[in-house]
Amino acid sequence: MAFPKPELIAFLLFAVVALSFTAPSGAADCGTGAGEISVYWGQKSESVEGTLESLCSSGNYNIVILQSLLTSYVCTYELELYCNILVYDDGRVPAINLADHCGTSCPAKLQPQIEYCQQNNIKVLLSIGQDVTALKTKSHRHYSSSSSSNSTAAEKLASYLLENYLSGNPGPLGSVALDGINLADVADGENLKWDEVVKAINASTTARKIYLGAGPECVYPDYNLGKAISTGLFDYIWVEFFYQNPCIYANGDASNLLKEWNKWSAGVPGSKIFLGLVADGDAGIAGYIPPEDLISKVLPTVRQSSNYGGVAIWDRALDIANNYTAQIKIDVPKGCICVCNGDDAWNRLYGLGSASLRMSV
Ligand SMILES: *[C@@H]1O[C@H](CO)[C@@H](O)[C@H](O)[C@H]1NC(C)=O
Ligand SMILES: *[C@@H]1O[C@H](CO)[C@@H](O)[C@H](O)[C@H]1NC(C)=O
Ligand SMILES: *[C@@H]1O[C@H](CO)[C@@H](O)[C@H](O)[C@H]1NC(C)=O
Repeated sequence: MAFPKPELIAFLLFAVVALSFTAPSGAADCGTGAGEISVYWGQKSESVEGTLESLCSSGNYNIVILQSLLTSYVCTYELELYCNILVYDDGRVPAINLADHCGTSCPAKLQPQIEYCQQNNIKVLLSIGQDVTALKTKSHRHYSSSSSSNSTAAEKLASYLLENYLSGNPGPLGSVALDGINLADVADGENLKWDEVVKAINASTTARKIYLGAGPECVYPDYNLGKAISTGLFDYIWVEFFYQNPCIYANGDASNLLKEWNKWSAGVPGSKIFLGLVADGDAGIAGYIPPEDLISKVLPTVRQSSNYGGVAIWDRALDIANNYTAQIKIDVPKGCICVCNGDDAWNRLYGLGSASLRMSV
């Protein structure tokens, strides 16, 4: 198929004009991954959040975070001053909890869905958190590495995760090799040595890249995850700008949020920082940002951070109820839109990738 020369000239002129009206760094900033969308799935019933496959076929997300694998503690002293992450050495394994999504048939049901997501370039991360029941029964929750064997509790947890969820060997979700591990749900005063866990995962990774994510609350640095985050080992940090934080969007005012965002962005320069958003204002969770406010008052600023990663949606069920991501997703990519989208013929003919010609918005 031939394209007449005048069209080519017009096209290139348009591109030059479009690019010349943008900030000088605009075009360079428009690389792959500059503005992705992640979403949490797994803690609501299938009737409200749908299947994993329907999530991955929605066209809305780049990363899904499965919630949750629950670890708990074994405490070696009477007063529970020293507790270890309980892995499997006393015969109990961390429990995978995915609400009513799969019950006893998780391997058979979820393996094909996880593979579907990965085949569609959607990364699948497993979130590890703590057993809420365990949290409630412990008054002191310090952590010490186990002395009862030659490897620490952190190392055991890391090798358990690798073997069961990241290797492709049969495990609780089938024979899957998930893309990474996420740390979340560690609120309520926990201050365990998650830094040891991520270092152990980092130390044990082989050829394949294992992505690491963390979901701290918005006050920087995070009390529970700060030490782990300061290892610099996290690829993604989804900062929760919701719940009862002093840094949430409130009464139409984004100034507290933006102030704290800048601390995260500057404080963890090696990680991609995501804006964690609650997807529905009717959920009774403070900090909801209506789509039009997000687009006009928040995204234009956060997108300018060099390590802006995108937005993290809490959660799939609320997103379905409020159709949130569909209304914001065009504005999530970093400071630019593609001027050649929808014209594959042009892209192929002139060797342009879909991200090659963009202009600032
Ligand atoms: C710890 O290491 C020693 C020496 O290498 C070995 O004899 C012992 O069996 C190990 N203990 C455990 C619990 O693995
Ligand atoms: C992570 O692993 C790499 C490769 O083994 C190692 O060089 C690096 O020191 C590790 N980082 C940390 C913080 O443990
Ligand atoms: C969701 O929002 C998108 C974008 O505004 C719109 O095209 C679509 O029709 C909406 N879907 C529903 C179910 O309201």
